[in-house]
Amino acid sequence: MTAPRDALDRPIRDLRISVTDRCNFRCTYCMPKEVFGRDFAFLRRDELLTFEEIARLARVFVRAGVEKVRLTGGEPLLRRDLESLVAQLAATGVRDLALTTNGSLLTRAKARGLHDAGLHRVTISLDSLDDAMFRAMNDVDFPVTRVLDAIDAAADAGLTPVKIDVVVKRGMNDRDIPAIAERFRGTGHIVRFIEYMDVGNSNGWRIDDVVSGREILETLQRNWPLVPADREYFGEVAERWHYADGAGEIGIITSVTQPFCGSCTRARLAANGELYLCLFASRGHDLRALLRRGATDDELFATIAGIWSTRTDRYSEVRADATPDLRKVEMSHIGG
Ligand code: GTP
Ligand code: 5AD
Ligand code: SF4
Ligand code: SF4
Repeated sequence: MTAPRDALDRPIRDLRISVTDRCNFRCTYCMPKEVFGRDFAFLRRDELLTFEEIARLARVFVRAGVEKVRLTGGEPLLRRDLESLVAQLAATGVRDLALTTNGSLLTRAKARGLHDAGLHRVTISLDSLDDAMFRAMNDVDFPVTRVLDAIDAAADAGLTPVKIDVVVKRGMNDRDIPAIAERFRGTGHIVRFIEYMDVGNSNGWRIDDVVSGREILETLQRNWPLVPADREYFGEVAERWHYADGAGEIGIITSVTQPFCGSCTRARLAANGELYLCLFASRGHDLRALLRRGATDDELFATIAGIWSTRTDRYSEVRADATPDLRKVEMSHIGG
């Protein structure tokens, strides 16, 4: 069976697996407290795929062309013994195995354990170096020093290159851009500044709160000359720049002002086994039912290939025409 291409001729290369929809942070742009409060209905334990079910699906996705698997959440490290899932995923032979985390639970022991289990690298979210601003953005009063420790722990454990994701929100952390860049210049870590997106229906997104990639770049270039670098692989979301003085690279992710749907090779598996074909989709395809009904690997392959081959999503390119009251899935459900 051949690797599928979607209706816009895009292959499937990147599988993002959300292992839980829960998070211990309440970032205002992702899980605002007013919506994700005490009575929010998170997935129940029996609704979650087991690690064995996830690994089985991952094997089928690798057959279908997936070269990169990224574990996300919510916060993936909330799931107990994630090392055991990592080991099972590493055994699929996937070329690139990465994890996106807020860093709050990434101790030195955890980082070493994940590396020993076969994880290649991590991406850690860090929106500000200013402790008060960082606490305001995670909205659970989590101190920035502990995330900085997690970044060191990841690097020391060999989970490299460490990438640092910064979602920029106007009037909040936009003034911290130069300080963040300065802090990580010359460390080998790659900072990526991300335009604030209208994912989900709860963050109260307004275009006025978006700082464009262009503005971010101008801010950086006022401090350091930058030279453009080629994308590392087809479908990479970040536009890459090198510091002219050799102090490393940075990335800018412009999903709002310069969408990259044309090369979007990403599929997203929610923690309950729903397959989503776009970050802005309103519904997913239930793979859990199929698994629990006893489907064979060939049947799973055929179903996944069939779903992928009809894919036409390109939300970011047609955002302006989208129906304003379109129900979109939350980012914490399908992963960033
Ligand atoms: P690398 O594998 O290191 O290149 O990272 P990545 O860009 O695949 O992963 P990461 O999770 O770090 O993505 C960074 C951010 O880019 C996400 O948190 C999103 O904000 C944004 N992003 C990633 N994929 C998509 C996508 O398919 N569509 C849109 N609109 N935004 C995306
Ligand atoms: N806009 C852009 N990125 C977001 N993330 C979550 N919500 C948003 C949003 N509204 C991304 C961030 C975070 C990752 C887990 O998800 O990169 O680091
Ligand atoms: Fe949690 Fe990450 Fe969402 Fe923040 S952005 S609430 S850390 S999942
Ligand atoms: Fe891919 Fe959808 Fe993002 Fe476009 S908006 S890049 S199709 S996930």
